[in-house]
Amino acid sequence: MQTYYSDLLVIGAGLAGERVAVESALAGFNVICLSIVPARRSHSSAAQGGMQAALGNCAMGEGDNVDVHFMDTVKGSDWGCDQEVARLFADAAPIEMRRLAHWGVPWNRVVPGTSSYFKGGEKFEKFEKPEKEGLITARSFGGTAKWRTCYTSDGTGHAVMCTMDNKCAELGINVLDRKEAISLIHDGEQCMGAIVRCLRTGKLETYLAKATAICTGGFGRLYKATTNAVICDGGGHVIAQDTGVVPIGNPEAIQFHPTGIVPTDILVTEGCRGDGGTLLDVNEERFMHIYEPEKAELASRDVVSRRMTEHMRAGKGVQSAYGEHLWLDIRHLGDKHISTKLREVDEICQNFLGVDARTQLIPVRPTQHYTMAGVRTDKNGAAYGLKGLFSAGEAACWDMHGFNRLGGNSLAETVVAGGIIGVKIVEFLKGYETSFKTGVINAEAKRQQERIDNLISGRLGKENVYKVRAEMQEALMQGCFVFRNEKDLTTCVEVLQGLLERSGRIGLVSKGLGANHEVAAALKIQGQVRLAMCIAQAALVRRESRGSHNREDFPARDDQNWLNRTLAYWPEGQTMPELKYEEATPHFEIPPGERGYGGGKIIHADPKEIEAKTITKSK
Ligand code: FUM
Repeated sequence: MQTYYSDLLVIGAGLAGERVAVESALAGFNVICLSIVPARRSHSSAAQGGMQAALGNCAMGEGDNVDVHFMDTVKGSDWGCDQEVARLFADAAPIEMRRLAHWGVPWNRVVPGTSSYFKGGEKFEKFEKPEKEGLITARSFGGTAKWRTCYTSDGTGHAVMCTMDNKCAELGINVLDRKEAISLIHDGEQCMGAIVRCLRTGKLETYLAKATAICTGGFGRLYKATTNAVICDGGGHVIAQDTGVVPIGNPEAIQFHPTGIVPTDILVTEGCRGDGGTLLDVNEERFMHIYEPEKAELASRDVVSRRMTEHMRAGKGVQSAYGEHLWLDIRHLGDKHISTKLREVDEICQNFLGVDARTQLIPVRPTQHYTMAGVRTDKNGAAYGLKGLFSAGEAACWDMHGFNRLGGNSLAETVVAGGIIGVKIVEFLKGYETSFKTGVINAEAKRQQERIDNLISGRLGKENVYKVRAEMQEALMQGCFVFRNEKDLTTCVEVLQGLLERSGRIGLVSKGLGANHEVAAALKIQGQVRLAMCIAQAALVRRESRGSHNREDFPARDDQNWLNRTLAYWPEGQTMPELKYEEATPHFEIPPGERGYGGGKIIHADPKEIEAKTITKSK
């Protein structure tokens, strides 16, 4: 088996992975990045609306600063985030946006006198405040006090991804595509790299590294309806959890985006609503302001998705051959705005719906979009449980989003966390000498080859991997979507238990080695079902509603009992996850309170306990 050595092995070459890689390369370390697809096809490229950073350049961002961004992020998380991490993020975001500009990102800029904006469908012709010509501008996004989302039209992810990949090329970073990590090499204490399957040849390869970083994005594809690309299937989470010692943080924290188009669930950006688009019901009437008088369509995503679902349940949805939906209306934004600032949305509507958004309504519904859940790390990006293992971006739970992420905070997180954690990895590498244990490496390589041989030989059974996967996706849709309750969650866990057993008896239809997608799917299905069980079981146990975790039977946020983070472990040989809990944050810069949107009841924590954990800025 071919063996490759590097100081740092990055699994996943999206924005977080490449940003981490850049820091190590700048410090002179040898880096290899692995990716299932060519780096520029990573899911980061699909991000449309933008990146939050408190630059305060545009008129509607006047008065913004990192404290306001921090506060929006904590409120958005429904006080579920680690406030130290949210603070690190908010403080670093403006620096990172300017750095990206230097590296070549063509940000939209402030052009005074040309702006008009819409609020609730009403047009405002000019800004009262002065504008800072030529500086990076921003648009409005949900759950924010100021316009803060920096953008390049609605192709922000694409623009930043190309820039980052160019930077990697400039630094000579080895970015290898069509490579999938199928297990981590470890001895229970230290991570030494990964066993990787070449997706072209089907051959296994060994990658040994002093530090390994999982940056594989989210696991939206565990759900049937998702905005995520097919590569966002939890591969990185599976190999981390398979170690038995690395937990998944907050697996029940799954985000549903209000505007996936029907029927394909492709994203149309929150920027549509930020720029003034409205949501309409079957009568083509606005409704969000009835539920959310303050923020209307621009409440945080968890709230908008919940309100949309409630409105459809009240009989106000549009019935269609592809299921019930509501409408997104951007007609009033006009041709110029749509063809310049929302041009990807324009193309998506034309190509996938045959709809001209200038004159027609866009059918939308809430759909899975993001995983606040992830490989649990500390604030330096170091994974719990294994020395030398790191994680960053959506793959990780470090945990700045808690139970709801604000739009625009994810794409920003990829580069901000990538930069911060990249520096921490450099510090780690500088002081680290290791010896790779041949016995451990050979045993893992043999174990993985045997898994493939067993699948190819057909000796495990006859279960169809695509069928098991589809049933898992459906189970999560039924039991673990926008609204959850004990009965549906219990059924979901039971169905998944059955699927877990069947996932051990997969038989392949196509026996070829090489570029055999069925082998790739079969290798990860058991881990995916485990992950799905972590989501469902953690959601069943968490008897409160917080952010995107909405329990119909426990509608209050319960800070007294649940102001904490779930850690889901899967020790070897177990048939259920082991759930542990830790405090949501070591310190409260902002003690738990009302979000100012979303309604709902709060069971408050003991003020004395909060006081003891609160540090004010003056201390
Ligand atoms: O709606 C959007 O453009 C998505 C942005 C995000 O998920 O941050």
